[in-house]
Amino acid sequence: MDFRKKSCAAEALKYIENDTTIGLGGGSTISYLIGNIKKADLRVKVVTPSFTTASLCVQNGLQVVPTWSVDRIAVAFDGCDEVDEQLHALKSGGGIHTKEKLIASMADHYILLVDETKLVNKLTFKHPVVLEILMDALSYVQHSVKSLGGKPEIRTSASKDGYMVSDHGNVLLDVFFDKVEDSTALQTELKAINGVIETSLFTKEVTSALVAGSSGIKVIS
Ligand code: 5RP
Repeated sequence: MDFRKKSCAAEALKYIENDTTIGLGGGSTISYLIGNIKKADLRVKVVTPSFTTASLCVQNGLQVVPTWSVDRIAVAFDGCDEVDEQLHALKSGGGIHTKEKLIASMADHYILLVDETKLVNKLTFKHPVVLEILMDALSYVQHSVKSLGGKPEIRTSASKDGYMVSDHGNVLLDVFFDKVEDSTALQTELKAINGVIETSLFTKEVTSALVAGSSGIKVIS
């Protein structure tokens, strides 16, 4: 599957212009893109929510700047766990989704890089929606998501690609849903619960997805 991630990362390079600030999320496809940016010798500044990505950028000689110092991002790239044809996406593992969503919102273009196994017609929610929440709100948020049909599980161990608590030190609640008819309505309801800082459900930020399959790259926008 790696050749697909590599071809996605190669395609992404076409969206980057010199002398711009770009966003880079986390994951293996993004790490291939960092190598490509270095090889192409592009002059860019990078903002990232991911410590691993920041370290890799520094190792590759790319300038990393803090997100708070930037008011506009030309293009941001990220991976996800699942994306659908309506460009709704679910990101679960990393525990850095609040900053990921901030960078996504700041970017003129927020582009997901995925292989075709992650593309679905409509989000299946086989991955949980992750909520970053204030500790004091824990019981209240658990109760509230149950009334929306969710099954909340406090994250008690680090996922393979992420943290047990958020990068801000807040509680992560993995919420499983059996069936979701309307992702946008769910996002609105979850975000309206006091104590929820952000969810890992992206319903309006993604502007396109580069989907790598056996017959090349498909662009969804
Ligand atoms: C975690 C994410 C990551 O961005 C995603 O898992 C990275 O995927 P890959 O390693 O396949 O590029 O959203 O929730």
